Amino acid sequence: MVTLYWFEADRLGARPLIEANHETGLWGIRLLALALAITPFRQIFAQPRIVLLRRMIGVAAFTYLVIHFCFYVADQKYAVGTVASEIARRFYLTIGFATLLVLLSLAVTSTDGMMRRLRRRWQTLHRLVYLAAIVGTVHYFIQVKLNVYEPTWFAGIIGWLLIYRLLAHWFGVQRTSSIWALALLSIGVGILTALGEYGYYAIFTGVRAERVWQANFMLRAGLRPGWIVMAFGITVTILATLWRVVEKWRSDAPTGGVGVVPARRSAGS
Ligand code: HEM
Repeated sequence: MVTLYWFEADRLGARPLIEANHETGLWGIRLLALALAITPFRQIFAQPRIVLLRRMIGVAAFTYLVIHFCFYVADQKYAVGTVASEIARRFYLTIGFATLLVLLSLAVTSTDGMMRRLRRRWQTLHRLVYLAAIVGTVHYFIQVKLNVYEPTWFAGIIGWLLIYRLLAHWFGVQRTSSIWALALLSIGVGILTALGEYGYYAIFTGVRAERVWQANFMLRAGLRPGWIVMAFGITVTILATLWRVVEKWRSDAPTGGVGVVPARRSAGS
C-alpha cells in the first residue's frame, strides 16, 4: 500500500500511473510466489500451521493485481474500448488478463463455504495457481523487452518451487525434502536458470549469448540469475538443516524440560 501512498503524495515520478502499475504488478507476483512457497516450506520445515497463511497471501496477491489492472485502465484514461482492444491485440496483455481471470476464480472460491461445497473439485481448481504463476511470469518476462535479469531469476525461483512440488508428488515428501535432494534441486535449477538465460539471448535477441554465459563465471559481472536461484535454494537447504538439528535436539532433550516440543513431520501435500 506504500505505492498508493506515494501515488497520492505525487512521488511516483513523471508517469505516476505507469510507475504504480509496475510496483503493484511486482508486488502481486511476489505475493503469488510466496503463496506458492507455502506448501514446500510447510513440508521442508515440518510446520503444518503455516498453511493458514496461504489464503491470506493469495487474496493479497489477487488484490494487488486487480489494482495493477486498474492503474493500467486509468493510464488509458478509462477508455474501455481501447483497453479491450489492447488486451486483444498485445500478447502480454492477453495472457495477463487471462491470469487475472484465473486468479479471480480462485479468490471467489477461497472461502470455507466454497471449499466444503466443491470438495475434491476445489483442489483440482486451486491447482490452477501453478498455471497462473507460470503465465504471470511469462507476462512479466515479455513486458521488460531486453534486460531480462530480474524476471529470469524470478522465473528460476518459481521453477524451484514447482519442480519441488512435482518431485514431492512423484517421489514423496520425505525423500524430496531430504537435505541431499534439496541441495541437488538447488544446483540443478540454478544451472537450468543459467541455461535458460543463455537460450533466451541466443534465440530472441541479437546479443552474443556466449558472453552472457561467460558472465556467470566472472566476478565483476555481478551475481547472475543462475547464481541467485542457486543461492536461494542453498539458503533454504541450510536453514532446513539447522532447523532439523534444533528440532532433534529439542526432541532428544529430557522430558519435563522447558520448551520440549516433539519433532513434527507433515506427510500431506
Ligand atoms: C488484465 C491484466 C493485466 C494488465 C492489463 C497488465 C498490464 C501491465 C502493463 C501495462 C505493464 C507494464 C508494461 C510496460 O511498461 O511496458 C505490466 C507489467 C507487469 N505486470 Fe501486468 N498486467 C495484467 C496482469 C498481470 C498479472 C495477472 C500479473 C502477475 C501474475 C502481472 C504482473 C506484472 C509484472 C510483474 C509486471 C512488471 C513490473 C515491472 O517490471 O516493474 N500483471 N502489466
